[in-house]
Amino acid sequence: MAQVANHYAGDPSQRPDLWPWSAQRKQGVLQIGGVPLPQIGREYASPAYVWDIDDFAGRCQVWASAMAESFWEGYGFAGATVNYAGKAFLCAEAVRVATNAGLGIDTASLGELTLALKAGAPASGLGLHGNNKSEAEIELAVRSGIDRIIVDSPFEVAKVEGVAARLHKRARVMIRLVTGVHAGGHEYISTAHEDQKFGVSIATGQAEAVADAIAHAKHLELVGLHSHIGSQILDLNAFVESAGKVMAFRAKLLAKGMKVPEVDLGGGYAISYNAADPIPPTAQEVSCALAEAVKLACAQASTDIPRISIEPGRAIAGPSQVMIYRVGTIKDVTYAPGKSRRYVSVDGGMSDNIRPALYGADYTAVLANRPSEGESTLCRVVGKHCESGDVVVHNVYLPADLTEGDILAVPAVGAYGRVMASNYNMVPRPGVVGIKDGKWREVIRRETVADLLLLDKSL
Ligand code: LLP
Repeated sequence: MAQVANHYAGDPSQRPDLWPWSAQRKQGVLQIGGVPLPQIGREYASPAYVWDIDDFAGRCQVWASAMAESFWEGYGFAGATVNYAGKAFLCAEAVRVATNAGLGIDTASLGELTLALKAGAPASGLGLHGNNKSEAEIELAVRSGIDRIIVDSPFEVAKVEGVAARLHKRARVMIRLVTGVHAGGHEYISTAHEDQKFGVSIATGQAEAVADAIAHAKHLELVGLHSHIGSQILDLNAFVESAGKVMAFRAKLLAKGMKVPEVDLGGGYAISYNAADPIPPTAQEVSCALAEAVKLACAQASTDIPRISIEPGRAIAGPSQVMIYRVGTIKDVTYAPGKSRRYVSVDGGMSDNIRPALYGADYTAVLANRPSEGESTLCRVVGKHCESGDVVVHNVYLPADLTEGDILAVPAVGAYGRVMASNYNMVPRPGVVGIKDGKWREVIRRETVADLLLLDKSL
């Protein structure tokens, strides 16, 4: 948790990487896609996730074209696919927009897979992840004939084979590898070191045993190898290292006569959350670095270059959404002699964004509804939940004249925001308002207290 307060007053043009591309201030009022944020607060509700749909679409296109160019056949590669990691943010509109931009969709549960299929994503672009896939999840994947089930354990090879045999189908599988490469932000989101629950280890021989088992399974087809080394990764060298490990392992399988046409290098590309964060690598920089890494790794392994896929979630969805909150109680708290802090309470909190409490994530908040000449004052923006860890932004300078009813905007909430929301304190989850062509509409309905009461069977 950074203790450095940031002095960012919220001019999108100063840190465009934090915001949807359309964000701008007009007469001091923050707008997204031409819609003033206070208008959404007034006409719809606060808190609300405000989603710039064109921004999301643009990021899909940028990733797709960057990867297509870097892995162009003309440069000696075998092409590339971008699969949007739906766990970052999913709704039917997101599926349609990503699909229209040519992306596949990665899913990680029955709910995500069902939604993607219902929203019209072609099975040929769908993947299913998870370390403990249920029979129902595997069955839906196999029945629908999705592009890839990423198997996570020896146990799961047998399970998928069993389901496919029962359905008289063949399932396309990838192997989730543990490469031993450590990367990413918080311990909870780094995934490729040995002592964690995902994947099968190259180092211990478990991965090879899984490949052999797939080769002997009548209803399974090995379509590729998969590695995801963590999330919020800034250092691209980690991908170079993991690509090396995956390609060396692939060479081993090829030498045994197996076919491994594709390698998925996972997601994990970082974004910035506040003005003190470094500017993250662009899609072009990431894809160039990956292409170099793949070329080198395949040369070292003396193999051909497979088709490459990646699975960005955060880098596509994150900057496309801004949270709006309404300011309520403001209180100056003296916490030591001569030391005080201004606590600004808003009408949401850890139930709509758990990331500060869970990972110590540092966001920023800016006054959105008016200009202010008020002196910059160090504040802590907190939620309305019954927990002192319910922090929205730990340290941020806001104008001294901030007052009840003002609207604060928190950028970069589009990934792992709405999807990780809870009903803590029986607070209904906020809706998602999509902006397109200068108009807003609700794309995910906001919950009401009545929705929550309906679940209580003894009421
Ligand atoms: N592929 C796989 C197999 C994954 O497990 C993930 C994320 C991704 C792709 C997408 O990663 P991204 O590009 O979004 O970093 N709740 C945490 C992040 C958990 C990530 C889980 N897996 C957070 O809020 O930071």
